[in-house]
Amino acid sequence: MSRVIAIDGPSGAGKSSVSRLVGRKLGFLHVDSGALYRIMTWRCLAEGVDTTDSVKVSEFARKVEVECRPEDGRIAYYVNGEAPGDRIRKPEINAHASEVATVKEVRDRITAILRGMTVYGDLVVEGRDITTAVFPDSPARFYLTASAEARARRRQKEEVEKGIANQSAEAVKASLLARDAIDSTRQYAPLRKADGALEIDSSDLTLDQVVETVLSALPADWK
Ligand code: DC
Repeated sequence: MSRVIAIDGPSGAGKSSVSRLVGRKLGFLHVDSGALYRIMTWRCLAEGVDTTDSVKVSEFARKVEVECRPEDGRIAYYVNGEAPGDRIRKPEINAHASEVATVKEVRDRITAILRGMTVYGDLVVEGRDITTAVFPDSPARFYLTASAEARARRRQKEEVEKGIANQSAEAVKASLLARDAIDSTRQYAPLRKADGALEIDSSDLTLDQVVETVLSALPADWK
């Protein structure tokens, strides 16, 4: 049986950096579940599917084939043999991913894809519903959070550094809070702290401190 570390939290809380590092330290594959929602959103927008029409999104999403491959310590995704790269990180995708993520059929499909990844080995899976819906029985579940200001600052820096966008901190914060609102109030698998998950507020912690907190809370025989 493969072991799963589950990490949930709002945008910009640091889930990706923490998950990547924890995975590297333990030899667990890093799984970015948000990227799957982003891929579905990217394909919808590319094919002119209205992301607010849940029936159309659900029909369309059924046809999108995502290939998952373990590669360089993570699960890499390919659509028609091509890696989506930073195309799925654009503000346009940010603006519509939460809508696509409200659609039950999309969530069911992505949940099944994520559960199927255990065949590749031990995993660190990050997202919004990993601790509550995808792997609720994992003994290693974390809820990573940070103040809206800290989260917006990190996201903006990342967008500028990667050349993805050049928005003001205020614009990044507004987009992030809008997504949080949809993610945490949707009907299916909303973002919330799971009972029994360890909450870590990373606002005033360094990345290494958060990673250490996660590592020290793992079951003794996982370290
Ligand atoms: O983590 P992210 O910003 O890449 O996520 C993109 C969108 O997908 C975001 O609106 C939340 C949604 N999401 C989700 O609903 N469930 C997950 N497990 C991961 C992401």
